[in-house]
Order: sequence, then C-alpha cells, then structure tokens
Amino acid sequence: MAASLQLLQFKPLKPSFSFFSRRSVSPICSAAPTPSKSQRSYTITLLPGDGIGPEVISVAKDVLLLAGHLEGIKYEFRERLIGGAALDATGVPLPDETLSAAKQSDAVLLGAVGGYKWDNNDKHLKPETALLGLRQELKVFANLRPASVFPQLVDASTLKRAVAEGVDLMVVRELTGGIYFGKPRGFDTNEDGEEFGFNTEIYAEHEIDRIAHAAFKIARKRRGKLCSVDKANVLEASILWRRRVSAIAQEYPDVELSHMYVDNAAMQLIRNPKQFDTIVTNNIFGDILSDEASMITGSIGMLPSASLGASGPGLFEPIHGSAPDIAGQDKANPFATVLSAAMLLRYGLDEEKAAQRIENAVLDTLNKGFRTGDIYSTGTKLVGCKQLGEEIMKSVESNVPSGATV
Ligand code: IPM
Ligand code: MG
Repeated sequence: MAASLQLLQFKPLKPSFSFFSRRSVSPICSAAPTPSKSQRSYTITLLPGDGIGPEVISVAKDVLLLAGHLEGIKYEFRERLIGGAALDATGVPLPDETLSAAKQSDAVLLGAVGGYKWDNNDKHLKPETALLGLRQELKVFANLRPASVFPQLVDASTLKRAVAEGVDLMVVRELTGGIYFGKPRGFDTNEDGEEFGFNTEIYAEHEIDRIAHAAFKIARKRRGKLCSVDKANVLEASILWRRRVSAIAQEYPDVELSHMYVDNAAMQLIRNPKQFDTIVTNNIFGDILSDEASMITGSIGMLPSASLGASGPGLFEPIHGSAPDIAGQDKANPFATVLSAAMLLRYGLDEEKAAQRIENAVLDTLNKGFRTGDIYSTGTKLVGCKQLGEEIMKSVESNVPSGATV
C-alpha cells in the first residue's frame, strides 16, 4: 500500500473534470492498489515539524479526515517529532522512533522544519538535516512539484497577467542524490592555513536513469514535452546527465525532449513560463527552480509536492518552509499542505476520488473569495489559517465539481 514508481506505467489515464487531474500526473505516479475498496484503512504518519508546520498540518489532517470519511476511508494517524521540535525534545532532529514510524506507514505528511533558534547549530543538529535524512531513508528519489497558476490567483502573481495566465508546469526534481549527498564533503584547511568548505556534485548512471524514466512517464501523461535542465557546458555530472537523458529518450518517442542550461532556464521561467510542460533536473537545480516557479503562481504557500520511490511510503509536503516570522499567528496559508494531502491520496494511496474532493474544495474556497495574507487582493476576504481550514471543510462536504468553475 505504498507509493511506487514501478507501478506508474500500468495505470490508464483516467479522464477527469478536475482542474488538477486534467493537468497532473495521477496516472503515472500512483500507489499500489488497495486490497479492498470497501474496507480501506491507512496508517498515516504526520510530521508537523516547526514554525507554521503544526498549523498547516492541523488543517490538512482535518481535511483528510473529512474527505476520507465521505469517501469511505479510515485512517490511523501517528504524529511524530521532526526538526527543531525533535531536537528540543530528544536532542536529535530525526529520532529513530520517527523514522521507523514513517517507514511503517502507508504515507507520510510533513509540515516544515527549521527556525532561527537552530540556525547556528552544527550541521548534524540542524532541523533541515532531518528532512534530508528522511528523504534518503525513505529512498524517495522523485520529487514532483507542480506549479500551476490558479485562474482565481492570476493577479497574485508578480508577473504580468499575459505571462502568468495558464502556466501549468511540473518540476521533477531528483531528490536523493547530487551535491546534497555527494561525497567527499566537508571542511578542511589549505596550504595557506585558510579554511575551505567543499561538496561533490555526483550522479551515477542509475540515479539519472530512474529519474529520467519517471519524468518521461510524467511528461507523456501531460502535454508530452520534457525539458531536461543541466549545466552540461561546465559540469561533468551534467554532461553524463544529458547523455543518459538523451539515451533514454529513445524509449519515449512520443515525448518531445529538449535540453536547457540552468541559467537559461531560470531566465526562461520568468520570460515565458508557458513554454514549459515537464522539467526534469538534479537536486539542487530543482530546489532553486521550484521556488522560482512557485512565485509565478502567486505564492509559495500554494505549492504541494510528492516524493516517491520505487517502493515504500511516499513523502508529501508543501514546498514552503517553516516561516518562523509568522508562526503561531494564524496567518499561514494551509493550501499547499492541503494540496499535498490530495497528492498523498492520489499518489500515495490510489484514492483518486478523495483527492479530487479536496482539490475541488480548494478551488471552491478560492472561488468564494477566501484568502490568507500572502494571496490577498482587494475585493477578496482575508482570513486566518484556521478559518480558511473551516471554509475548505465546508467545500469538502459540498463537493462542488471544479470542472464547472475553472
Ligand atoms: C526544499 C527545501 C529543502 C531542500 C531544505 C529545507 C533542506 O528547500 O524542500 O525545497 O533544500 O531540499
Ligand atoms: Mg527549497
């Protein structure tokens, strides 16, 4: 009952009127089918983490419960500590207990980690180290970060309406390799007695091949265009990346492959984002480009993500951080986490109907004009995280099909 990329190729594309499903990759990255559709019960590990994490997870949990209840799904939630919260309570950012609970569940929903308090900690005691460890231990190498401009939020984008309207792209980020994990790494002292820090950008063929296959399959179910982003004019790891992606393209003649250097891609994303459908890239370029892509949509508070491996539970999290500046003030935007919960249902549990119910509810709530501060504009209704959650719940209950409104 876990998210699996192996199963991706076996699911047919389901026609749908959902805004998300029409443009998303649900047929590609999906979970193992549940044993019995009448008796569905799942264990979900909740990792609220730090900053606004607990606030947005609390909303997403309520939404998951209600959408599940209405679609005949039962959950057993296990809440565990991660990041700074775990450091304060146990002395380590990723306790063994948290890791084993995550590994033994059907899916993991994470809020955010990090905060000023722990910024100067040694690396092994940083909250962010927990997140990287969790991704590595769960072996979730494929990180899907969809960035789509909601029609209701076009004016929240800092780009001109004509540039932002209709943007619908997917960044497929390699998540467990590259410079984030490459060895050797560390600090040393050179012959002049000067300290230096160093890291290694390294990709083995199999790491490139598996993310390339995942990305081609995703592109195939979207608009059939894949842009591989690298720095092959400078970096050996990128030269190999480009060579492998080009070789694998032979197996996907229906997908149109292009290559782009990362600096150009950063520029093109702002110049003309609609040229992109699916982007596949390494860990660090994906980190940077997905933040950039999120701003086209108006707010980083809107973007969910799914991280999947070849087997085992998937990890679902908003792409935003812990936002310590607004933590505890009921100002956080819970949409990204609620949408991550929808991705959890679709890709992690193969519960398409419940996923759509949540996505419909997000669109309905936007249509009704409810906004947190980050996406507020004149004429809309400014609400806090909790109230927005309550409004989403009402919409989950009424289940207005999004096809009618989008
Ligand atoms: C992200 C974050 C993380 C990353 C940090 C918090 C370690 O920026 O998920 O994009 O760099 O991957
Ligand atoms: Mg990031």
